[in-house]
Amino acid sequence: MAALRPPRPDAAADEVARIAAAAPDWATLAAVARSCVACPELAAARRHVVVGDVPVSGRPLVAFVGEAPGATEDETGRPFVGKSGALLDQLLAEAGLDRAECAVLNVVKCRPPGNRTPKAPEVARCSGWLNRQIELLDPPAIVALGLSAAKWFLGPRTVLARAREHGAHPWNGRGLYVTYHPSAAIRFGPNGAPRAALAADLRQVAYLVGKRDRP
Ligand code: URA
Repeated sequence: MAALRPPRPDAAADEVARIAAAAPDWATLAAVARSCVACPELAAARRHVVVGDVPVSGRPLVAFVGEAPGATEDETGRPFVGKSGALLDQLLAEAGLDRAECAVLNVVKCRPPGNRTPKAPEVARCSGWLNRQIELLDPPAIVALGLSAAKWFLGPRTVLARAREHGAHPWNGRGLYVTYHPSAAIRFGPNGAPRAALAADLRQVAYLVGKRDRP
């Protein structure tokens, strides 16, 4: 019987992590990420690598992390500019947060065909970019939007509702908060629980970063 071996490390994931870690600043990181071909299926189908939005200051109040670009994001090269983005913008404004002062990122930077959930190797290969983005931006607070982002930070066994109720998770010296993805809020409708929870969580984050008096 063949001996059990540990899984082979993904050389592409290692390569991305090495290149990303060497990027001295956001502009360099973004330029290199835009030519990434670590995931052949995604690279062949994409229009743009959606690197992310960052404030002009380079120091966001909060970094929001979603799953992966959708069709509109792939088309424009910017994160959260489709239907989910419109709801995110509305709820951020209602909470008192200015999107221009925040970073908006994704776990995976290229659109998975048909908007499927990114596969584990794709997440692994893209992780070097997100790790370095967070290091360079150094946000005091991070908000994981939805399960894919929550799992990226907290591990594959993460349960969204439980992680959300937990409140602040210490993550590399920062406060990490988990909430619903705007697409869940859209799916359950304007009177659904995910939308109310997302709105309340964004108010809480705005309070924590000093942008409103009370949640
Ligand atoms: N959904 C995401 O997770 N990210 C985007 O950028 C857009 C939709």
